[in-house]
Amino acid sequence: MPVIDMRDVDLAGKRVLIREDLNVPLAAGQITSDSRIRSAVPTIRAALDAGAAVMVMSHLGRPEEGQPAAEFSLAPVASRLSELLRIDVPLVADWIGGVDIEPGQACLLENVRFLAGEKACDEGLSQRMAALCDVFVMDAFGTAHRVQASTCGVAKYAPLACAGPLLSGELEALAKALDDPRRPLVAIVGGSKVSTKLTVLGALAEVVDQLIVGGGIANTFIAAAGHEVGKSLYEVEMLDIARELAGNDTGRAEIPLPVDVVVASAFSADAVATTRAITDVADDELILDIGPQTARCFADIIETAGTVIWNGPVGVFEFDQFGEGTKVLAEAIAASSAFSIAGGGDTLAAIDKYGVEDDISYISTGGGAFLEFVEGKKLPAVAVLENRAASVREAL
Ligand code: 3PG
Ligand code: MG
Repeated sequence: MPVIDMRDVDLAGKRVLIREDLNVPLAAGQITSDSRIRSAVPTIRAALDAGAAVMVMSHLGRPEEGQPAAEFSLAPVASRLSELLRIDVPLVADWIGGVDIEPGQACLLENVRFLAGEKACDEGLSQRMAALCDVFVMDAFGTAHRVQASTCGVAKYAPLACAGPLLSGELEALAKALDDPRRPLVAIVGGSKVSTKLTVLGALAEVVDQLIVGGGIANTFIAAAGHEVGKSLYEVEMLDIARELAGNDTGRAEIPLPVDVVVASAFSADAVATTRAITDVADDELILDIGPQTARCFADIIETAGTVIWNGPVGVFEFDQFGEGTKVLAEAIAASSAFSIAGGGDTLAAIDKYGVEDDISYISTGGGAFLEFVEGKKLPAVAVLENRAASVREAL
């Protein structure tokens, strides 16, 4: 169902409240990746250019609700946003009772999760947020799977609720990859556990042509095929499910298994990497990456793909000696003419590390939201916007 697009709304002189996902990774108070902030900038810039008084809101981390804590303050984000927008974007600590702002100005409202009732989508809190604005813009794709006051509640009560260009762009790119994809459609799903990605693996197995698994997920598939995985991370309770998924019945994706892997005797930055055939892993070894032969074979699959969906690295790429598999695949995606879409925090970090950002067709700002969309779930914050749009149409 269609939603109202911010670009179709007259924002001149209006008080516009924009929900972004500025939940960026921080280390010792420093932003380690500003990609979510950079993705939000065009929306904020467009609202300012249209003559709006702009209030931006976001969460950061998972603070205890109702307890403002300095480590979860959006202060570093406000500074970065000011630099990127080249205007002063003050951080407003106390905002739920009202915000003093003029057209052409922007401010950032302090972490929405400092307010009691945010996560429970409290009606009273949602109404108070809605009272701040004339127009609410939902642009936080990365948080669109959360039913919270700042994502869903406020959209119910704001005088007008619409989708921002970042949210619309994400939904369009994902629809392009999933609804009528150019085939072969290849998905790469890495990560540590089959159990946490079970629904997405199941959903992808039904629609993609090849499903490349990596990381601890691959270890479970390797063990399910009867190979020794030594001390590797894998899930005994998922072996039957892995066998079922790999079963390759009609209509099911092919799940190619590694033929070689990179192992070590310990999980550490200085561990020595050794390449082994998949049949030769010793019982005191850990599988930490796919091997070179496997990486080449997967790269060939990617090279001939029409569409590639990528979520999760295939090895422990944080340590260079176990990053080769992820690097080869990242470069293959970059070199391929396939429409490629990537999402998830670790995937973005790998894209940064291997410098392939410009050659991926679409980089999603979503992690959990990206996976839920791929699973075929309706994102709740989008559903609210659709309902609001439907009632506007009825009133016309
Ligand atoms: C994310 O990083 O996945 C989103 O910002 C949502 O954050 P959350 O998982 O804490 O709700
Ligand atoms: Mg998360």
